[in-house]
Amino acid sequence: MEIIRLEHIDKYFGERKALDDFSLSVKEGEFLTVIGRSGCGKTTMLKMINGLHTPDRGRVLVEGTDISQTDPIALRRRIGYVIQNKGLFPHMTVEKNITYVPVISGKKNKEENRKNAARLLKTVGLEEEMLKRYPNELSGGQQQRVGIARALAADARILLMDEPFGALDEITKQAMQDEILRLHKELGITIVFITHDIREAMKLGDRVLVMDQGRALQSDTPRNIYRSPASEFVRQLTRAGSGVDLRME
Ligand SMILES: Nc1ncnc2c1ncn2[C@@H]1O[C@H](COP(=O)(O)OP(=O)(O)O)[C@@H](O)[C@H]1O
Ligand SMILES: [Mg+2]
Repeated sequence: MEIIRLEHIDKYFGERKALDDFSLSVKEGEFLTVIGRSGCGKTTMLKMINGLHTPDRGRVLVEGTDISQTDPIALRRRIGYVIQNKGLFPHMTVEKNITYVPVISGKKNKEENRKNAARLLKTVGLEEEMLKRYPNELSGGQQQRVGIARALAADARILLMDEPFGALDEITKQAMQDEILRLHKELGITIVFITHDIREAMKLGDRVLVMDQGRALQSDTPRNIYRSPASEFVRQLTRAGSGVDLRME
């Protein structure tokens, strides 16, 4: 079943066209990775999905509904959004960060919220004792795990991730990649994941989308992208991924 659909989107920032007749269909449960040069429109595209940007032309459908017809706040609560750093509220404990959306959505039972936060921490591989800490008392990798837990707290079925592991050291990054693969498998959520790391895109994605100049150039399995790039540009871009263990499925 299709869960996200972008139809012929144009998006301008002044004179600059950030998205150019951009279309995309994402199936429920899919793990889509997105690569492309800096400034090619990846973040703009991602923000279209949760209504942080509105298209100048075209439509965005989430779970079959045109999002211009839905309450933007409700939409954003249903869709987890994970970005590099800056994602957590620095003045709130880990527990407050994770339960923020449930609480503002009306879930006021403190004990239940705490239990839920502890369960989510466990899901992302952290100890319950972290609940009382503040973001600056956590390592980068731990902060990123909390960011994912918070995104999951609203029972999100869709996770949008914008270069979430870009600032992590290589070892932590690999651990987080394995973690997100496990979560994807366990929870059956749909993930759209932007990265500038080709190897990461190839390792994580069921499907890889290559963008350039606001357009979708190719989207296919890592294996097919690598074996049959649609253009010289795609070949150049994905060549850096040589030697990667391509997922077989
Ligand atoms: N809020 C904005 N105002 C003006 N220009 C923007 C804004 N957001 C993005 N852009 C421009 O749109 C283009 C695409 O940006 P972006 O989607 O952030 O690219 P990417 O995430 O692929 O690096 C870039 O040229 C960028 O400068
Ligand atoms: Mg970006």
